[in-house]
Amino acid sequence: MLLERYLESLGSEAIQKALGLDGPRPALVRPTQDPKFGDFQINGAMALGKELGKPPRELAQPIAEALAGVGAIAKAEVAGPGFVNIHLAPAWIASKLTEALRDPARNGVPAVEDVSRIVVDFSSPNIAKQMHVGHLRSTIIGDAIARILSFMGHDVVRDNHLGDWGTQFGLLIVGMREWGDDEALQAAPVLELERVYKLASERAGNDDAFAERARAELAKLQNGDEENRRLWEHFVEVSRATLDAVYAELDVSFDTWLGESAYHDALPGVVEDLLARGIARVDDEAVCVFWGDIDSAPKALRKQKTPFIVRKKDGAFLYSTTDIATVQYRKEHLQADRALYVVDNRQGLHFQQLFAVMELLGVDMDLEHIGFGTVLGNDGKPLRTRDASGNVITLVSLLEESKQRARQRIEEGIAEGRLRVRSEEIDEVSRVVGIGAVKYADLRQNRLSDYQFDWDKMISFQGNAGPYLQYAYARCASIFAKGEVDMDAMAASATILLDAPAEQVLGKHLLRFADVVYQAGTTSQPHLICEHIYELARAFNGFYAECPVLDAKGPTRDSRLGLTALTARQIRRGLGLVGIGVVDRM
Ligand code: ARG
Repeated sequence: MLLERYLESLGSEAIQKALGLDGPRPALVRPTQDPKFGDFQINGAMALGKELGKPPRELAQPIAEALAGVGAIAKAEVAGPGFVNIHLAPAWIASKLTEALRDPARNGVPAVEDVSRIVVDFSSPNIAKQMHVGHLRSTIIGDAIARILSFMGHDVVRDNHLGDWGTQFGLLIVGMREWGDDEALQAAPVLELERVYKLASERAGNDDAFAERARAELAKLQNGDEENRRLWEHFVEVSRATLDAVYAELDVSFDTWLGESAYHDALPGVVEDLLARGIARVDDEAVCVFWGDIDSAPKALRKQKTPFIVRKKDGAFLYSTTDIATVQYRKEHLQADRALYVVDNRQGLHFQQLFAVMELLGVDMDLEHIGFGTVLGNDGKPLRTRDASGNVITLVSLLEESKQRARQRIEEGIAEGRLRVRSEEIDEVSRVVGIGAVKYADLRQNRLSDYQFDWDKMISFQGNAGPYLQYAYARCASIFAKGEVDMDAMAASATILLDAPAEQVLGKHLLRFADVVYQAGTTSQPHLICEHIYELARAFNGFYAECPVLDAKGPTRDSRLGLTALTARQIRRGLGLVGIGVVDRM
């Protein structure tokens, strides 16, 4: 159940009734800052003071009285200049939790009424270049957002917009002829392509004839030359294999892989259209959108001196041109209502300009740049992607290291008697913990901020880290194992009762789940789910310290097992929504 939405409707009904108004008014429900003052605050009377010409406190009084009679509310009182503080009734919370307990498929989270088709454009690395940590962030954050939106009931298209087209391929074709090593290309394709690309672009910088050859090969490729097409396909194919290995390890998948090359044929039309409509103009043989020219452009762009270039002087199309064609495709062929671009903050200006051009073109679609900050190393500088001896740290080796470190921690935990993992399960548990730790360290942060990559904090069974939450889940599961109680059977029959204060605290956390999922989904902020699960795990600890579960009797025991099951399922679901797995025994 969406709690705040429900309280909003209760509140606005109470306002209308209590004040004898002709129609409903917003109740403006907010969680209270301090639980001492209740659970939620209704601020509607404050806004009505002006409209009705009365002091808000005077209006708040009858509203509080009307609310006090409602089943969900134990107490409603006027506070401050005219808020109404409400305390939820434990019996009502308990009944809602019992409903959620009967709903293992959705954990009490309703499906959206208005389904949107949403493209999530994420990961999107460049072929022939090492996928870097920025792409890792995009992959992890984008996957989480796609999972959350799908669970809410939206129609999500996960698209990997590969950088698989453009000038680098001319250089690669001539470079591979000169320096290419087929064996290396098979064994470590991306490394080999990157090596050759570097050599080729260096050479092109000081050898005009070489640069000219590269341009000619690119033109041939773009005009459909068979030999070059074959080479390009081969580069893409071997790179795909490397990418697939990373995605498999991360448990990330895509519905479409429509890279930049997919839009090649549409590009001339895009430029002609922009020229014909007077959005772009020719400047020194290039085609550009000059923001100073366009009265209806967003204010922030009007001052932008550098134009948005859509065709270079030499006739080549750019990233910008492809992105315009991509939006059009998503609108026309995918009938998308929204597109989310999960891309580094540093591309902010590009997307600002792209979205403004689409607006000028009259494409009616909700476009959002879901930016994120930089991953920093221990020195506070952007995380280096090379080790001390200059070797590239690949994503696969990073994930491998995480699994190794997780295994070490787990073995220590077993030796010290803190963890219980069967020897035949150590591989699997290390994998789930190691990969989960990398993902959680990223996702628990507000995506817009930079964060420091720190192995010790990341792989920790204490504090706000992935392993701690996976452990919290396993502990809930172990209570069922120890008591030989079947979780699902019990969940189908138990009734939740909230008597002890620690039960009430836990119950209130559990009740917020649907709101948190919706908020995370609508604002593209997976960290809200991480925060919720972390706080939930702590509330569960408080409950478990105060309230015996297996040793309790009768309906109290059933209820406490029910609370344990709800907690376990919410942790599992919450972690699942951000792409992190759990294990039952740890
Ligand atoms: N390939 C780009 C890069 O690595 C990211 C692409 C993001 N998606 C897009 N539609 N522009 O920087």
